[in-house]
Amino acid sequence: MNQETLKQQIKQLAADKDALLIAHNYERDEIQEIADITGDSLALSIEAKNTEKQVIVFCGVHFMAESAATLAPDKTVLLPRADAGCPMADMVTAEGLRKLKQQHPDATVVTYVNSSAAVKAESDICCTSSNAVSVARSVEAKKLLLVPDRNLGRYIASQVPDKECICWEGYCPTHDQLKVAEIEQAKAAHPDALFMVHPECQPEILQLADHICSTSGMYEFAAQSPAKTFIVGTENGILWRLRKENPDKQFIMPSRTLVCPDMKLTRLEDVLHCLENMEPRITVAEDIRIKARQALDKMLAVPRD
Ligand code: 13P
Ligand code: SF4
Repeated sequence: MNQETLKQQIKQLAADKDALLIAHNYERDEIQEIADITGDSLALSIEAKNTEKQVIVFCGVHFMAESAATLAPDKTVLLPRADAGCPMADMVTAEGLRKLKQQHPDATVVTYVNSSAAVKAESDICCTSSNAVSVARSVEAKKLLLVPDRNLGRYIASQVPDKECICWEGYCPTHDQLKVAEIEQAKAAHPDALFMVHPECQPEILQLADHICSTSGMYEFAAQSPAKTFIVGTENGILWRLRKENPDKQFIMPSRTLVCPDMKLTRLEDVLHCLENMEPRITVAEDIRIKARQALDKMLAVPRD
């Protein structure tokens, strides 16, 4: 079946089944193209919570679909590829976090949404890359456990110098490998370019940035900035919308390794198959869901900067 036919069948089936198709900003171009909504983790969680549709087809990775199932338990949440995970999310377990909490009973646990529902259930409040600093500032405690991304953790710590921050040693294999030499090379080749970067990159990379933000923050920055060229420090799926929305601007990837294999798993065939069979379905056990929901709700109540 060719791509156009596949897309038409998906759209028709989604309408028949009252399904909302959502896609993360890193998904393949053709997946973003058929989605009703694309966005970063925070925007997609909010869409999942607010939609009146009965079915959510989440083209992303497992923790994102779990967040949708946590926020919208009455909906059917489908993840077209059950094997689409996030290595960073897998670097912390609920048991490991419980042990760290025992060592620091006076700390507040701030957990990045790139984590399992079981880990969120052990947390006081969640954050995403777009609200992490606001969340950390909103917390009264003077000591924070920042889980699981050490790079996002170190970035948060730099923004809340009045707090003691203890970072879990997790990382994103895609963002963590970006090198200073690659940025310097891109800057030398494009001296007028602005460098925008995701906070999952290492601190020495963030130091070279003109703007540090979530994936959706990059769309806003690129659209509003008078600059014509941007070096992009995040996963390459972001290019599709950046180029579509800014045809007069140039976007440079500093490294060929900025690819998340899990985000590239979902293909049109998987989306069609999942709508036809209404699986794989993602659910969260109710006792975990209630606690994870509290941590997510606290995050959603924090005013944005
Ligand atoms: P965003 O919340 O910025 O979309 O990031 C999610 C993610 O997985 C980044 O690697
Ligand atoms: Fe996880 Fe990194 Fe992929 Fe984001 S880019 S889903 S943090 S592995």
